[in-house]
Amino acid sequence: MAGERNFPSPSAFLRKPNMASSMRSLFSDHGRYIEAFRRFLANSTEHQCMQNFIEEKLPGIIARIGDTKSEINILSIGGGAGEIDLQILSQVQAHYPGRHINNEVVEPNAEQIAKYKERVATVSDLKNIKFAWHQETSSEYQNRITEKKELQKWNFIHMIQMLYYVKDVPATLKFFHSLLDTMGKILIILVSGTSGWDKLWKKYGSRLPQNDLCLYVSSPDIIQILETLEIKYDCFDLLSTMDISDCFVEGNENGELLLDFLTETCHFSKTAPPDLKAEILEDLQRPGFSVKEREKILFHNHLSFIVVEA
Ligand SMILES: C[S@@+](CC[C@H](N)C(=O)[O-])C[C@H]1O[C@@H](n2cnc3c(N)ncnc32)[C@H](O)[C@@H]1O
Repeated sequence: MAGERNFPSPSAFLRKPNMASSMRSLFSDHGRYIEAFRRFLANSTEHQCMQNFIEEKLPGIIARIGDTKSEINILSIGGGAGEIDLQILSQVQAHYPGRHINNEVVEPNAEQIAKYKERVATVSDLKNIKFAWHQETSSEYQNRITEKKELQKWNFIHMIQMLYYVKDVPATLKFFHSLLDTMGKILIILVSGTSGWDKLWKKYGSRLPQNDLCLYVSSPDIIQILETLEIKYDCFDLLSTMDISDCFVEGNENGELLLDFLTETCHFSKTAPPDLKAEILEDLQRPGFSVKEREKILFHNHLSFIVVEA
């Protein structure tokens, strides 16, 4: 509504303290988090789904971002190991052949940055692209450039599967939107309101380990914030699945890591109270959470692609 600033407060998305036991957040063991994320990528169509979007929809979205610019400035927030970033860059290169691209990455995790740099070193077709990495969170970046008064404008900003880790989502969106150059766009990718994630978080969030590093946000939350901020956007939903069949094989290592990722709990199988574990394992097989297909249980990992305009 015009004039109203009725944001859901960040704490509205935070987990409530759970009474449970020895369960601890997956974020408390960084190595296990990265391994669980790797298993998630290997067992899901997450990156395939993003690749389809990048090939089919992104060319239209970026069609005018570089009009009249001698250099295209791209800012990646939470770029991870760069797999998706490089696909985006290749589309921008194809659309603006020979144009110089300045690609800056804001990523707090040193290992991810190291992997991103390795990847860049092995890809040959990156000429005309200048890379810079900033090992910091989006709010650290925001504070740093605000203090230095270096408010550079960007032609394309992307936030892919990372808004869960931002403390103040409305302030973050407002800030990065203010950095868009004329014709600039922001691409936000996160789980959709129809995903199994949304259902899992709503039903079990309060019984899983408390962790203020991760908010249970899905696309309807972001859309509500954008509407309150009166920022123009478009939203595309795409289906994606995650094969969670191994989660139902007792003692299966892959299944245990996937369950850790689903519940964001370190060693969920071994540390969760038996009733909670049984309920979650049962729900994960229900319609709304997953679908059974050829002996496999495929969790709804549906994604929303939100394109924000300057
Ligand atoms: C789920 S991964 C997604 C990586 C990549 N964008 C992709 O889709 O493959 C989330 C990434 O966000 C980074 N991250 C976590 N908190 C962040 C924050 N506050 N600001 C920026 N990046 C953050 C993590 O280190 C991680 O690399």
